[in-house]
Order: sequence, then structure tokens, then C-alpha cells
Amino acid sequence: MNSQKWIERSDNVIMKTYGRYPIVPVRGEGCRLWDADGKVYLDFLAGVAVNNLGHCHPKVVKAIQEQAATLIHCSNYYQIPQQIELAELLCSLSFADRAFFCNSGAEANEAAIKLARKYSRDTTGEPDRYGIITAAESFHGRTMATVSATGQEKVQRFFDPLLHGFTHVPFNDIDAMAAAINYNTCAVMLEPIQGEGGVNVPAADYLQKVRELCDKHNLLLILDEVQVGMGRTGRLFAHEYFGITPDIMTLAKALAGGAPIGTMLAREEIAAAFVPGTHGSTFGGNPLVCAAAIATVRTIIEDGILNRTEEMGDYLLGELEALGAKFPAIVKNVRGIGLMIGMGLHIPGGDIVKKGHEKGLLLNVTHDTVLRFVPPLTVTKAEVDEMIGILTGIFAEVAP
Ligand SMILES: Cc1ncc(COP(=O)(O)O)c(C=O)c1O
Repeated sequence: MNSQKWIERSDNVIMKTYGRYPIVPVRGEGCRLWDADGKVYLDFLAGVAVNNLGHCHPKVVKAIQEQAATLIHCSNYYQIPQQIELAELLCSLSFADRAFFCNSGAEANEAAIKLARKYSRDTTGEPDRYGIITAAESFHGRTMATVSATGQEKVQRFFDPLLHGFTHVPFNDIDAMAAAINYNTCAVMLEPIQGEGGVNVPAADYLQKVRELCDKHNLLLILDEVQVGMGRTGRLFAHEYFGITPDIMTLAKALAGGAPIGTMLAREEIAAAFVPGTHGSTFGGNPLVCAAAIATVRTIIEDGILNRTEEMGDYLLGELEALGAKFPAIVKNVRGIGLMIGMGLHIPGGDIVKKGHEKGLLLNVTHDTVLRFVPPLTVTKAEVDEMIGILTGIFAEVAP
């Protein structure tokens, strides 16, 4: 079946929630995807920062195959060895003492919002202590609570009334954050680097100042590391880069190498607010996804992926800056940490992405004018050079 046939069938049955490109990927390996017509693409989107080990990494494939043949699913009414092992691994690698598992980033953030509210009410005895401060241009998911937490009108439009209790302040503005805190506030929830909001990197000391504010006012700091966690910044967790520790952290996307998973991690004292009956998920942390996640996390740590990410991130950033210097009428700036890089443009990026597709390059534009580069962390120098070559050709075509 060729791509066109699949697209026609999709048009008949799939809800139109996505503005999908006419590309039908059917196979992946490393940084490459093949479509249903056999065309090969260099993938600098990686499932939107999901395939951090590249497509179909052999160790993740093996773990999934072995687990699928043994036990795919079992209820959270019972103990699940793979879930226990994954929680031990994540806690040993982070500030956290306990993990809750779910199936996506939005669900992980839902869990964090519920935990923050319950913990704060339990410990202060104040029923009004449920407010959460989040950032303008943030993205936390598509469920009602996470849409309410998200600081983007385009995500919230059509769905009001939103969940009560969220205040949005400009990202990277500590005075605005301080001014927004009141008797009602129980937590601050931030992405260490905003992803969907345009790859916005805060000042080096912003998160430290937020941490200080939280400590001063007895607020929980929730970091949404759904996009920037799992090695993308060259640290396993992005907050390590900024030298702070949150109270609650959420992860998803890259955690299980492409298998659907989310997790919320917290310190013991906070985690204790969740007791039987307060939260749950049928699929959350099932044996299959946890086996995939264990293989993914171990590979990131054992195969030196973090050092590679830092090295390749520096290289990619340098090459993009050099490209920007050649095309100042197109490129405004380049920013990022590790392999989470945004290129701000003077023009909308949609055409550049489409031309990339024609030339076999998968890229993404976020916030209309920001090209986002989130390739697999296993990307090679030769693949970066190939991508830069394609992009140079496109910029030459679209240059005014
Ligand atoms: C920072 C952040 N949080 C939450 C989410 C939502 O994750 P999911 O789509 O898995 O629900 C995303 C997705 O892009 C994200 O980037």
C-alpha cells in the first residue's frame, strides 16, 4: 500500500486533531525513517524528542520482544517487578524517593497537580491552598487540568470553563513570579526549558531564584521534564544543568524509547500524600513499557549517551550559528542546551519544513517562527553535516 492510499484511508476515519503532513513512516532505524513509498528521511524531530536512542534501538527492541513473550500487562492490584525495578533505577538516578507511573506527559502532570494540591492541604490544613503558578507560553498537555496549566491561549480556546486555580506569569521573570504568590498558592510548575513555547532557555540563575522563592513561601516546585528530561540537555535531567532540585518531576516522551509511558517522581514526604484510592491508572507502569524504559535508561547511562549529547549539541549549535551568519535575513538567533535547539526566524518556518520533507529531512517548526532541532541523541557528526547541507540549500531557495 503506497502513501497516497494510506492518506485517503486516514481522511475517512481518523479524527482531524492533527495537521498531518502527507508522510507515512513505516520503518525506522537510528536517525532514519522510511515511508510507505520507500523514501528515506533524516529525522531531526525524533517523534518530538521521544526517540532519544534513535528508532528501534536494538536493546529496547530486545527488551520489548522478551517482555511481550512473557507478560504484557497485569493490574496495579498486584506487584509488578519491572515497575519496581524502573522506580528503583529512576530514584537512584534522581532526587526522588518514589515514582507513580502513567501513560503520557499530560497524565504525569495531572498526577503532579493532584499530588501538590493534596499534599499542601494535608500539611497546612488550609482548604484554599490549591493555586499553581505556571508560565506564559508553557505547554503541559491536553487534558483539562494540563490545558488549564498551559500558558497558551490557542491550546485553551474552546474548552472553558478551565480548571480553577492556575495563574500564568511571564517565563524567566522572577519579579512577576514573586508578585503572583499569595495565600492560595501551593506550587510552581515549570518546564526548565520551554519546548512547544519556542525552545525558550531561561537565564542561568532563573530556576535557582524560583527554588529560593518556593522555599521562602513553602511552595512545591514541580518541574515538567517531559520534553527536556532523559538526556536531551546532556544531563539525565535538565534541572541538573541549572543546579537545582525540584520537589516533584514529571517525565514521559523519551523514557521508554517510544513505548507510551509517563511518570511522576517525588520525595518521600510529598509522595506520602497519595494513599490507596487517591490516584491510579489501568495501564500505568505495565510490564511491557517498564521493560522498555529500563532498557532505555540503562542504555542512556551505560553507553555514554549524555557526554555524546553535550558534544553533538555543541557541534550542532555551532553549525546552526554559522548557517545563521550566512543567512541573516532568515535567521534571528539560535539557542539551546544539548540537543534541544531552537532557531528563531524572521519568517514563518512552515515552508522550510515542507521543503525539508521534499529533500528527505524531518524538521519541526514551533511557535510559527522557531525551527526546533531535537534529533536522536545518537545522531552522528556526518548526519548533522548532512542536515546542515540540506538546510543550506533550502535557505538559499527561500532567501529574500
Ligand atoms: C513539556 C511537556 N509537557 C507535557 C507534554 C504532554 O505530553 P503528552 O503528549 O505525552 O501528554 C508535552 C508534549 O509535548 C510537553 O512537551
